[in-house]
Amino acid sequence: MITQFNILNKSINGLTGFSSPGFNTEWIKIFAQKNDLELVESIAPLSDDNAIFEFQSNKLFLHMLLDGESSSIHFDLDEGSVGYRAKSVSKNNELIARAIGCKSHYRPRVLDATAGMGRDSFVMAKLGCDVLMQERCEPIYLLLENALNRLYESQPELKKYLQLQKSNSIESFDTLEMIDVIYLDPMFPGRKKSALVKKEMRLFKLLAGEDCDADSLLTHALTANVKRVVVKRPKGAPQLKALKPSHEIISKNFRFDVYLN
Ligand SMILES: C[S@@+](CC[C@H](N)C(=O)[O-])C[C@H]1O[C@@H](n2cnc3c(N)ncnc32)[C@H](O)[C@@H]1O
Repeated sequence: MITQFNILNKSINGLTGFSSPGFNTEWIKIFAQKNDLELVESIAPLSDDNAIFEFQSNKLFLHMLLDGESSSIHFDLDEGSVGYRAKSVSKNNELIARAIGCKSHYRPRVLDATAGMGRDSFVMAKLGCDVLMQERCEPIYLLLENALNRLYESQPELKKYLQLQKSNSIESFDTLEMIDVIYLDPMFPGRKKSALVKKEMRLFKLLAGEDCDADSLLTHALTANVKRVVVKRPKGAPQLKALKPSHEIISKNFRFDVYLN
């Protein structure tokens, strides 16, 4: 289990054209202080209980040991497969649009209570929904915040649709205002070392753990003042808390359990 997070006291490539705070050592020191990270001079001290952040230009990486080897993770929303998918997002080709209740002239306001890598939130924002994202795991929050900052640079119009908070969402359900839908996609305990599980997902799991309180996330969400709660589950996985949903939307690999209030 990783208990110590450090940050490399230098940025590879130094300053770029990125207009947010410069990624020079002064800025890294401020970032380290704000987020309670210890500054280190190299990634050599990597160990099973120690991970190291590094800025490569404006992109934040987290280096960790996986099977004894150094590996790294970073999040991207406007690049790679996520960015590609986002280009063709529409109400008709995204099941998530049906699950959260998008209509021709209606887009719900969504609380994504398990933000993670921000991919589902990004799709919902591209659909035109206002999305408040909450993430409780500190390193995941930092990686996501960095991906969002880069996204806002390339697609500034998304800033008004996507906001991120560092918090345990269970604590916010009682006081929600102006939210129509709570969206939940907790970690699913899966095969630990299968070759089928991508390295990125194994690294992500090292950080997030197994979300053992997912049942209670659903029961609390169902008491909130919202129109619906949507839970994303791997296909064939049991319902959270064994609670039968109002209806299900099933795709090739996963399923949305929709609870109408
Ligand atoms: C499977 S990931 C979500 C992936 C996300 N839907 C995406 O598209 O990238 C689950 C995430 O929810 C977070 N999480 C679980 N329970 C939470 C809670 N009560 N409050 C905030 N975040 C939570 C975990 O830390 C993890 O990052």
